[in-house]
Amino acid sequence: MTVDKKKIRKRVEALKSVPTMPGTFEKISRLIDSSKTTAADIADVISSDQALSAKVLRLVNSAFYGFPGRISNVTHALIILGFDVVKGLVLSTSVFDMMLARGLFGLWEHSLGCAITAGVIARKIEHPDPEEASVAALLHDLGKVIIKIEVPEKASLIEEAVEKKEISVYEAEEDILGFNHATVGKWLSKKWNLPPALADPIAHHHAPGLARLAPKQTAIVHLADVLIRARGFGSGGDNLVPQIDAKTWGALHISDPLLEEIINEMDDKLEDAEDLLANDDS
Ligand SMILES: [Fe+2]
Ligand SMILES: [Fe+2]
Repeated sequence: MTVDKKKIRKRVEALKSVPTMPGTFEKISRLIDSSKTTAADIADVISSDQALSAKVLRLVNSAFYGFPGRISNVTHALIILGFDVVKGLVLSTSVFDMMLARGLFGLWEHSLGCAITAGVIARKIEHPDPEEASVAALLHDLGKVIIKIEVPEKASLIEEAVEKKEISVYEAEEDILGFNHATVGKWLSKKWNLPPALADPIAHHHAPGLARLAPKQTAIVHLADVLIRARGFGSGGDNLVPQIDAKTWGALHISDPLLEEIINEMDDKLEDAEDLLANDDS
């Protein structure tokens, strides 16, 4: 059984913004689309929305970024983290609101855990932009929540199939929709003009070999996704741990001892993050 892919794609692309996005996000989306936008313009808009800037700053100052409590305003965040990272963080707060509004707590935790892990991997391999890798991981499964919003009846069938057939969400999506959440994420990334460093991991985190624009970043998110599932932190929607794509090791130059270091640090950071998870009522 497949639904009309074109029809769903059109619906996803017609989303002016995701349904629960605050008015501020609409403004930021417009600014992002304009090539004339400067960091100061974005800082002004984010800062004018206290709830949003508090959420962004809380993410920035949390365990992921290793600057706990040191970034006190959005302009500072933009200078330290860069335009694309802050843009991704703003989007993440909206995507997280949608997840929480629909009771997808497991997916929310999975996304946070994946972001923490991606940051750890990126730092261990001395990737030049660990914050960006982390944001890509925050957003990697956003297609899942869009499927839940846009085709809720199919989302229920996907959940049923995962349980009954003991297959992954990805496989169930392919069976029932004829496409998967990574593809939905790709459509949205295009619509939102996300930079390749975010768009490529969203589109290819299940098949990192297909990433052409940001292959390293995509391999990092792929590995983080598998490790966080193996750790049993949060839920990606099924309990299966996919195989790590064989090319990942070569792409990231990760030896066995380095992998062990990554896993140990991931465990420490996840413990540190528990406060953030427990206190987050966003
Ligand atoms: Fe995924
Ligand atoms: Fe995932």
